[in-house]
Amino acid sequence: MKKLSTALLLALLCSTAFAGPGEDRQKSFKKVLLSFEPIGVMLRDGPFRKDQFIKHADDLKAAAAVPFTLFKPNSIDDVSRAKPEIWSQPAKFKAEQDKFLAAVSALQAGARSDDLATVRIKYAAVTQSCKSCHDSFRGPKR
Ligand code: HEC
Repeated sequence: MKKLSTALLLALLCSTAFAGPGEDRQKSFKKVLLSFEPIGVMLRDGPFRKDQFIKHADDLKAAAAVPFTLFKPNSIDDVSRAKPEIWSQPAKFKAEQDKFLAAVSALQAGARSDDLATVRIKYAAVTQSCKSCHDSFRGPKR
């Protein structure tokens, strides 16, 4: 009994200490979502607080490129939703990233303006870019 619980404890420790590539990517994308979500809430439900909006847009910009450093070949594990097309169509995957990062930069720049209509258009472009990449390169929930 004592042996078993030690083994269990070790297994638990290891599973948290060595997260797999799928989990690492998902955590990284969740950071992206963490700054992106309040931007959407502010635009949909208000009130629009420019200083806060700028901070979220800056955080989004800082987080946006990080997940794409975590796509090593052969890194689809049992939690990952990454599709094999990420590696078999690298130019298309890169184009989706570039479009996304450009849209995030445009939103960050737009956040400094007082033109809410334009900010909404830039926000919509980012949303569209998340969806476009997910449609091609993210598989169903596991
Ligand atoms: C260039 C492609 C690409 C773009 C752009 C992109 N994602 Fe993803 N996203 C992925 C892939 C691929 C995964 C699956 C990673 C894995 O599980 O290994 C993922 C996973 C996620 C996850 C992890 C949770 C889950 O269930 O998969 C969240 C949250 C997420 N994306 C949100 C976003 C948001 C929000 C945006 C836009 C602001 C965005 N993503 C833009 C490709 C992209």
